[in-house]
Amino acid sequence: MSLGAIYMTITRIKLIAAAVLFLGLFAILGFKTEPIVTSAATPDAAATFKAQCAMCHTPTAAKAYDPAKPDEEHIQTILKGRKGEKPPYMPGYEAKGMTADEAKALAEHMRTLRTPKT
Ligand code: HEC
Repeated sequence: MSLGAIYMTITRIKLIAAAVLFLGLFAILGFKTEPIVTSAATPDAAATFKAQCAMCHTPTAAKAYDPAKPDEEHIQTILKGRKGEKPPYMPGYEAKGMTADEAKALAEHMRTLRTPKT
């Protein structure tokens, strides 16, 4: 074997080793981020309510919320927002990327918060 051929072989081994390492790393990272992606695709209404709504509505949906109104009206208010007499106003969440299904889940969650536990 000539020196040149040995050098080529070493270069090739290095390239293969780098590729294997890269693929391994990619597999580990891909595996780790998967649950995060899944949870973002199926948001939990209770967690969303705590993070984005409880500061105005209180954790028990005691404020600015009337459970006597139908779900459909609540869903529309969540999606489109509503200006009351004075701030803070109800923001429209459709503009922030919320879907009708997510709004429905939130409306149902708020109702359970106001339903007395037996
Ligand atoms: C900046 C404060 C604020 C935030 C944040 C907020 N809301 Fe509201 N929300 C209000 C106010 C104020 C009203 C009442 C508006 C009015 O006077 O008509 C309201 C009204 C509503 C209503 C209608 C209640 C009814 O009886 O008609 C629903 C349902 C609702 N909000 C759900 C949510 C959800 C779900 C979130 C989180 C994704 C949220 N809100 C976040 C302030 C807020």
